[in-house]
Amino acid sequence: MSNSSDLMEKLVSLCKRRGFIFQSSEIYGGTGSVWDYGPLGVELQRNVKEAWWRSMVLERDDVEGLDAAILMHPRVWEASGHVSGFTDPLIDCRTCKARFRADQMESALCPRKPSRKPGEHTDCELTEPRLFNLMFKTFMGPVEDSAAAIYLRPETAQGSYVNFHNVATSMRQRVPFGIAQIGKAFRNEITPGNFIFRTREFEQMELQFFVEPGTDDEWFEYWKAQRMEWVTSLGIRPEKLRFDEHGPDALAHYAKAAFDIQYEFPFGWQEFEGVHNRTDFDLRRHQEYSGRKQEYVDPVDRNKRYIPYVVETAVGVGRVVLAALVDAYHEEEVEGEQRVVMRLHPRLAPVKVAVLPLVKKDGMPEMAERIQKSFRAAGINSFYDDSGSIGKRYRRLDEAGTPFAITVDGESTSANTVTVRDRDTLHQERVSADGIVEYILGRLR
Ligand code: GAP
Repeated sequence: MSNSSDLMEKLVSLCKRRGFIFQSSEIYGGTGSVWDYGPLGVELQRNVKEAWWRSMVLERDDVEGLDAAILMHPRVWEASGHVSGFTDPLIDCRTCKARFRADQMESALCPRKPSRKPGEHTDCELTEPRLFNLMFKTFMGPVEDSAAAIYLRPETAQGSYVNFHNVATSMRQRVPFGIAQIGKAFRNEITPGNFIFRTREFEQMELQFFVEPGTDDEWFEYWKAQRMEWVTSLGIRPEKLRFDEHGPDALAHYAKAAFDIQYEFPFGWQEFEGVHNRTDFDLRRHQEYSGRKQEYVDPVDRNKRYIPYVVETAVGVGRVVLAALVDAYHEEEVEGEQRVVMRLHPRLAPVKVAVLPLVKKDGMPEMAERIQKSFRAAGINSFYDDSGSIGKRYRRLDEAGTPFAITVDGESTSANTVTVRDRDTLHQERVSADGIVEYILGRLR
């Protein structure tokens, strides 16, 4: 197995080679910390989102889905505290023209003299720290003045808060209930990096769960446990996951309690998902800034009125994708040859099964095509490949994380059987061609 420092390099290279992830606008030299998901990446990402949506919305009666707009009324971000508080303190160096986050100066390298120790900027000319807002600003309509200024949302959460009453009323939901969203968010991060770990454009999967005050601690514990269970259901190794509690200094202005689920990435233990008890901060602020009552009236006891507390679970799609990729990456020796295999959980694997005619003659391609059509008809994402030696084709499939490869060989056409190769065990089994779809469906379950 690679050591951790070159693992990221190998992963980035594999992601490009196999069509998982490309640098955005690469032919123009790339855009800083923005990435494009290629043909395999987009399937992996869709599988992550589908697994989240299934567990958070489809399998529950107490959570509703929502897709709020990215552009919201600018007052939303005043109410949420983002206009005044969503900032990083920055220090500029007038000598090197570099920009540092004030809280990371101690570990930052001087770009002019990288041979110096981290944090050594002694003859550099540094400015005082200045606050820099992380929201992307643009203009709505043709006039570019301050009255037309609008933000790209830095989180999906606010779209759920401002729709609290719309969702509760239209769906006749009673507290406790939640609103789930998957959608893009934008942050003008100062120190992005580590591939898709911290990017300026990313996608979030967030749940806002509204509860009666006083029941929030219990719900908080419930969601913490649920979220950890979900991550492990994706096949991510439990020993690489842990909870990390935010101490009083690290708590966000709105939070009563916060835990991160961390994953041990090659660059260390890092936040993967956040579970927050946001109290009634958000709805109270929206009530104040919009002038609209955000109170919930209990339909059974109409004297019981309160502003609900919110337990939030928030995770980036890219973080799940990165953790799944890192966790899946394995190098091993097979019959004297090195192979790289992505042991992605079959639920996440972009392509579930490949169909390979051993050679391009003797009726093998025709039989393989018929088999692939039957996978298509069953809604199983499959891939047909007849180019190169069978060994080379297997290696490509291993890197793509395809759990099963079906080979149509000389015996197949006469005996109506195929071989199924298991990506992880390398075990090969001969099964009837007629039952192949059922067989693969069973293995995928
Ligand atoms: N609504 C609460 C909220 O947005 P957050 O901790 O700032 O909380 C939630 O973000 C999750 O979104 C993080 O745990 C992370 O998975 C993801 N995320 C945040 N900033 C990101 C970035 N710049 N790039 C990729 N993912 C990010």
